[in-house]
Amino acid sequence: MSDRPRLLPLLGSIRHGSRDAMTCLYRCGNACDHPVPNTSDNTYFGDLVDSEVSRRGVVRAGTVGALVLGFGGAGALAGSGTASAAASAAASAPVTPKATEFAAPAGGVGDGKLTFKPVPPNTLDSFIVPNGYDHSVVIRWGDEVVPGAPTFKLHKQTARAQAQQFGYNNDFVGVLPLGRNRSLLVVNHEYTDENLMFPGFTDVDSLSVEQLKVAMAAHGMSVVELERVQGTGEWRPVKSGKRQYNRRVTASKTKFELTGPAAGSDWLKTAADPKGRTAIGTLNNCAGGVTPWGTVLSGEENFNQYFVGGDGAPEELKPKLARYGINTTDRYPGGNRKWDRADERFDLTQHPHEAHRFGWVVEIDPYDPESRPRKHTALGRFKHEGANVIVAKSGHVVAYMGDDERFDYLYKFVSEKKFKKGNSWRSREHNLTLLESGTLYVAKLNYTSADEIDGSGELPSDGAFNGRGRWIKLVSGTRSYVEGMTADEVLTFTRLAADQVGATKMDRPEDVEASLHTGKVYVALTNNSRRGVDSNPKADEANPRNANRHGHVLELVEKHGDNSAEKFTWSLPIVAGDPADPSTYFAGYDKTKVSPISCPDNLAFDATGNLWISTDGNGLGSNDGLFATPIEGPERGHLKQFLTVPTGAETCGPFITGDNRSVFVAVQHPGEVSGASVENPASNWPDGDYAKPGVVVTWRLDGGPIGS
Ligand code: FEO
Ligand code: CA
Ligand code: CA
Repeated sequence: MSDRPRLLPLLGSIRHGSRDAMTCLYRCGNACDHPVPNTSDNTYFGDLVDSEVSRRGVVRAGTVGALVLGFGGAGALAGSGTASAAASAAASAPVTPKATEFAAPAGGVGDGKLTFKPVPPNTLDSFIVPNGYDHSVVIRWGDEVVPGAPTFKLHKQTARAQAQQFGYNNDFVGVLPLGRNRSLLVVNHEYTDENLMFPGFTDVDSLSVEQLKVAMAAHGMSVVELERVQGTGEWRPVKSGKRQYNRRVTASKTKFELTGPAAGSDWLKTAADPKGRTAIGTLNNCAGGVTPWGTVLSGEENFNQYFVGGDGAPEELKPKLARYGINTTDRYPGGNRKWDRADERFDLTQHPHEAHRFGWVVEIDPYDPESRPRKHTALGRFKHEGANVIVAKSGHVVAYMGDDERFDYLYKFVSEKKFKKGNSWRSREHNLTLLESGTLYVAKLNYTSADEIDGSGELPSDGAFNGRGRWIKLVSGTRSYVEGMTADEVLTFTRLAADQVGATKMDRPEDVEASLHTGKVYVALTNNSRRGVDSNPKADEANPRNANRHGHVLELVEKHGDNSAEKFTWSLPIVAGDPADPSTYFAGYDKTKVSPISCPDNLAFDATGNLWISTDGNGLGSNDGLFATPIEGPERGHLKQFLTVPTGAETCGPFITGDNRSVFVAVQHPGEVSGASVENPASNWPDGDYAKPGVVVTWRLDGGPIGS
């Protein structure tokens, strides 16, 4: 067609590592160009060779888990009778009269064998699924969310319309049951690409204030009621009727309640909120998790890039701002969005505490559209990738969290109160308070082979990158365990507290998720271009490659299988990259049968306990994708690519429904390639014109369980 935009050639685009320069600019404010914010001298190398882990007892990483985790598998875990968090949410909390578990069809959820034929690496501007599967776009940027939302108008977009439509750059995806054939889709909108959103875009200074407000409204979250298509694994938005749950949360309008020990502290008070208890908006919501009580958690990640005027902030505050990556020397850091033109609270010279009201874990109750979302200070403040909750054997709930920055840390929160089982409203009301009080820990890892790590990725002589570790207590309720810092300081400046206690510097901890089948915890460590470079920390056993381009996955097994324990063992089941690269490792599995994978980011489990991994910034030249691997048994490490996303896009938010019939992913930033624009797109996905982020569902044509 003559009016179809021409595709921008990919060649010649500028890339920072494996990511396009545009992604670096818009998503994280060029974080890679800035100095590493963690300049603390806390220990990074194998200062302690852990003699407690027997070298002889460890043949390969897989054995570690088998030896240590002898507690009887899924049956030992509270609330684990169901296979996914959504299913468990429904089983434990029928939060509306209609809410029921995704019922498994007559054929069950499958035997867990991953027999699909892998999708080869490719650079197609398409969404590619294995033979025997189909996919459809569930919802895309600009589609109606709030019933009656104005029709999307590319050339006349308004903030009012955008605040009722599906936002930009979908990331986390959760699907919560609302009956056998109805569900609630909950999605994060992490950030915006102004040059791919506004026709004729030249630079940020040329955007109108209304356009800045459109961008603010395109951030946040969406809740959308879905219906199953004719008994298949396909889902689509409900298009008529009340759709009472449909809702938008934005960066500019939605009010949030701050909860927990730091709520009301002086650090959180601003001119607009002198009590420090109500924040406006949420920013850079990356990954998240579905809780066992049927709510959604969402991580506020690279919030630093939205602020200006750090140079004019009070001197005593500057080190604290800088530790969070906020520029304190220029009024307008390079690549800044200049939102202060639309809302002065983004100017730290005038409102120095406003930045403290971001960087939290947000909880939203999708079943109660009138509820005010909350920011939980008890879970600490950092660049939260996401948070995933499991009910520990003790009955306390445990949230695992990563701080996605090079050389930052791995955390967990253990609730003070215990999870209440049962289907009553009273149980749910109780469970809704679980994240408001508890203990926040940061991880310190020890090593078995510290003296053998040379940064090459070569497996140590004991056959595993592995060791023991401790969860170091930072704060419990209002009691601080960090010298010189009060509890509200520890929670508001958690990075600084963790620096002091010698937490282990990791290669960008992203999604952290416990298997509901085994209680074992998996950490995606995306990459770290600076590891071992210049004066930055060198490789260690948990981050074993210098200039780590392709990332790895860490498996953590809590002592006695109790997720609220303070000790653990760990190993690396996957060291990513091209399997032909000797520095890669796939749990000892035959590497000739493994798909190449680079930059693991978001994690999910299917109903049979297989681990699914999506990637961000494939450093091997292929488009990003979604991969699956068994994580127990003889097939552990047999990783295969399940799908790939279009040009310039990242695969986000994988979510497999509890009936094992549907795989949801978010296609984030399609066409995000340097030099691309609305008129000259690098991707035509999904509609053949200009690129639009969207959520896709994939299902098996014969109705069978996913993967097998
Ligand atoms: Fe938004 Fe950590 O990726
Ligand atoms: Ca070792
Ligand atoms: Ca991510």
